[in-house]
Amino acid sequence: MKTLHTLLAATAIVLSLPAQAYDADWKRGRIYYRSVCTSCHVAMPVGSINPSSKTQAEWAAYLQADKHAKGKDTLKHYVSKPYRASIKAGNKAAEKFADTPDAELLEDIKAFLLKGAKDGDAPASCS
Ligand code: HEC
Repeated sequence: MKTLHTLLAATAIVLSLPAQAYDADWKRGRIYYRSVCTSCHVAMPVGSINPSSKTQAEWAAYLQADKHAKGKDTLKHYVSKPYRASIKAGNKAAEKFADTPDAELLEDIKAFLLKGAKDGDAPASCS
């Protein structure tokens, strides 16, 4: 019984690791945001969207909701491998990060947006 408990405890620790194991890379998030997200925004009526236009709480809520362009599509779509593959011929960042797992890239972008938020460590513009 004791062994079983130890085993269960060890399993629980191992299972809880993946969520914490990834250390987001805000610099990679910045490259992706500026090269992929911003390059589309500037070509649209919406124009560039500065990270510093929202607070950290607003960005966290926005990413959590995952409703992009007033709910017409999702942010996950624009971070996904299939989307990167579809634009990589003409987009260096999409090509460079073609094989990055979606969840990691999303964490990177989140780290950049929180850092660059109005009340973040380093309020940032998008270019
Ligand atoms: C292919 C074009 C395109 C790409 C790529 C794109 N967006 Fe957008 N985005 C838009 C358009 C168009 C709007 C404005 C929608 C409107 O106002 O109806 C928008 C709006 C937004 C807004 C304002 C709030 C909202 O959702 O309406 C945010 C924030 C945003 N995008 C973040 C991102 C992020 C982060 C990425 C990259 C992971 C990204 N976008 C990639 C086209 C794009």
